Amino acid sequence: MPNTLGQSYLQTSPWKKNLFDGKVVFVTGGAGSICRVEVEALVLLGANAAIIGRRKDVTEKAAEEIGQLRPGAKVIGIGGVDVRDVKSLASAVDTTVGQLGRIDFVIAGAAGNFLANVANLSANAFKTVVDIDLLGSYNTFKATFDELRKNKGHIIFISATLHYTGLPMQVHASAAKAGVDSLMRTLAVELGPLGIRSNAIAPGPIAGTEGMDRLSGKNDPNRFNRIPLQRYGTTTEIADATVYLFSDASSYITGTVTVVDGGSWQTGSVTASSAMYPTKITELNSKTAKL
Ligand code: HXC
Repeated sequence: MPNTLGQSYLQTSPWKKNLFDGKVVFVTGGAGSICRVEVEALVLLGANAAIIGRRKDVTEKAAEEIGQLRPGAKVIGIGGVDVRDVKSLASAVDTTVGQLGRIDFVIAGAAGNFLANVANLSANAFKTVVDIDLLGSYNTFKATFDELRKNKGHIIFISATLHYTGLPMQVHASAAKAGVDSLMRTLAVELGPLGIRSNAIAPGPIAGTEGMDRLSGKNDPNRFNRIPLQRYGTTTEIADATVYLFSDASSYITGTVTVVDGGSWQTGSVTASSAMYPTKITELNSKTAKL
């Protein structure tokens, strides 16, 4: 069962209910936990949405469920799209504009990750993650650029904090996310004169997300020790950051990363789990690396 906000978000949310009436959001990775709740919040607050993903069934099911959150909402799922393929993204943009009329907001959220020390990381494994996270982010921008320009839109990249410090077993994702931040800042500078904003959100340890479930030690008794706010974050807190950034409340903000991590990275803790720090890294890396 995916982590969802559900309609209760409207009861607790500080935002105006019709904040995004008439707006359309195009999101890659929108069926996964973090992007899913971002889309839910935007749809509950009036937006229509296109959810883009590789898996047709998962993407279409998420779109159908999210569409039911608000009467009159139009939410389409476009499956079979890999962000590494800019042409399939361009075709998804055509479908979105054909069915929903326009694109105002873009969330470049598709990501790939796994834990692997460098001994076990082939050149192709490194390339695969860089291609999904970094090239995929550029492709998402590239395919939506005309719509962003036409509508003075806003693109948000989903980044991370793992590249702020050295993090074992994440050299592929760290390199990719560092690139994503740089891409985001450069676009902010180049596209600001066109009225387009470019920002990023860097989630820290967020409860119930696919990435955290896979990458962290859920049962580690020390998991909150190095999180200054002493708990995992919630997907609602990511959704609220997204709503803030897409709203006019942040209209002078571009080229920034909003870190939503309870202060974790300041203590060098990204997943807050000792599972990321195997005691025998040197031993692991003494194996012959596969090319
Ligand atoms: C070492 C691995 C590996 C592993 C795959 N590879 N998994 N190497 N350890 N655990 C290698 C393969 O052997 C292959 O290299 C290369 O990577 C490509 O693998 P494929 O399976 O062919 O790639 P693909 O089908 O494109 O799948 C991409 C994927 C997959 C990244 C490997 O896991 C995926 O699609 N993930 C999408 C969902 C996801 O990961 N979501 C989590 C995002 S969370 P060789 O050399 O054998 O050809 C997130 C937040 C992170 O990003 C926060 C961290 C703190």
